[in-house]
Amino acid sequence: MTDVTPPTDLVPAPRSVEGPMSCGVELTPETTLWAGPGTETTERWLRSALGGALGLPLRPGPEDAPGGLRLRVDGTLAPEAYRLAVVTGWGVEITGGSAAGVFWGAQTLRQLLGPDAFRRAPVRPGLTRGIPHQIIEDAPRFRWRGLMLDVARHFMPKEGVLRYLDLMAAHKLNVLHLHLTDDQGWRVEIQRYPKLTEVGSWRARTKVGHRASPLWDDKPHGGHYTRDDIREIVAYAAERHISVVPEIDVPGHSQAAIAAYPELGNSDVVDTASLAVWDTWGINPNVLAPTDTTLRFFEGVLEEVLELFPADAGPFSPFVHIGGDECVKDQWRASDTAQKQIGNLGLAGEEALQAWFIGHFDRWLTARGRRMIGWDEILEGGLAPGAAVSSWRGYAGGVTAARAGHDVVMCPEQQVYLDHRQDAGPDEPVPIGYVRTLEDVYRFEPVPAELTPQETARVLGTQANVWTEVMEDQARVDYQTFPRLAALAEVAWSDLPAPADRDFTGFERRMGAHYRRLDALGVAYRPPTGPLPWQRRPGVLGRPIDGPPPQR
Ligand code: ACM
Repeated sequence: MTDVTPPTDLVPAPRSVEGPMSCGVELTPETTLWAGPGTETTERWLRSALGGALGLPLRPGPEDAPGGLRLRVDGTLAPEAYRLAVVTGWGVEITGGSAAGVFWGAQTLRQLLGPDAFRRAPVRPGLTRGIPHQIIEDAPRFRWRGLMLDVARHFMPKEGVLRYLDLMAAHKLNVLHLHLTDDQGWRVEIQRYPKLTEVGSWRARTKVGHRASPLWDDKPHGGHYTRDDIREIVAYAAERHISVVPEIDVPGHSQAAIAAYPELGNSDVVDTASLAVWDTWGINPNVLAPTDTTLRFFEGVLEEVLELFPADAGPFSPFVHIGGDECVKDQWRASDTAQKQIGNLGLAGEEALQAWFIGHFDRWLTARGRRMIGWDEILEGGLAPGAAVSSWRGYAGGVTAARAGHDVVMCPEQQVYLDHRQDAGPDEPVPIGYVRTLEDVYRFEPVPAELTPQETARVLGTQANVWTEVMEDQARVDYQTFPRLAALAEVAWSDLPAPADRDFTGFERRMGAHYRRLDALGVAYRPPTGPLPWQRRPGVLGRPIDGPPPQR
């Protein structure tokens, strides 16, 4: 037997491991696979992943084949829980509380097979793969274990998104929040408004580095997902038990849409016809006009979004993210149209106008059997009745929302914004924000101590957010995202103690095995020793903050 990973090197860490013993089960080209009812996604995934990586065909076989691999759903387990039993002389069995539980168990099995199991073709054909005799019992701490990818600031081509879905599955993450629209780009085809992508999906040039940087890239940047690209992404995610939550960010962060359809902007305040897709970074004053016409336009957008992202594609697929963040109110204050709207609606002011705007889409989505989620600014001016909140400006929004009986996803910028630099050293590429090391993310606690058990139940989970202003390609996204996403995955999945009591040394040791998996997957992570020469960006200005320590 060779090339096995000690079970304690699993990432994220499982709840319990009994064993391992020195005997075990060997997977060979003769090993058969029996897949019980409801386990088809895992059956397909195992054949494709292990068949490719290790040359194991996993032919169909009987349930009682000695030494065989068996997949089973057992509804008495919690939905995403699984039990992975490797029993000498008997075989390997993955039992899940649901199809998803079986799938997460299969991810653990791949980790037990060593780093070669993460490649796409066999590099040691004929090598027998042994798994030590052991019983692993496991279940997630949180239901929502997410990653937000900003594909608006820099477009990530479809293949890159599919790759990230595979990387998420390998870490037992189950929600991909796709930030599809922003000032700098509109990334989803909307048939009834073709200019959103014809005009809104590309920009003539791009600021290199943060806003204060004098550098420009004069290469046009753009791209969008066609309707079939989106269908493919959603289906690929569903096959991996990942829900895709689309974000259409309104009423701020909308200059790309305004560049395409100038009537969406505050044209009585600025010459919206002269606005182009934004080529630099920061908070943009050009926001949507708060009119009924704008509402109708975005109902049209969302009708197509609902069709492309069906509610039944995953447990969190009913959610649609409406943004709501950083909507500067200067233009609304200066606009006669906006002020008339405030008067007509009998509202107290611009904050209430934003709440009216967001509340409209909350009711609109609810009426269509969907659920709205938005950044914590949607709390301002009164929270829409059915809304869930992505708490990003610290914990406060999440605490307020949970106390008011709303669901919360904790993603405070002080802890889990992966665009922030991972080290204080001078070699970090385009350093942004706080220094947030692998250890900082590992010690992130999604549930603030002040919540009661009832309020805590409102915390659906957590996600890391990857904003891509200074990530111009996949390698830069990989560098910022990994290895910290592995720590976030363990925070979201594993039953970790309080932050101060977490065994970071043990995690770092397990990461030794995990880096070999990431190498095999071709992930351009930040090495523990610091950036490789080609991962540096000498001379490009970032926006470091020498800020106070994060509030827990
Ligand atoms: C955000 O970071 N503006 C949600």
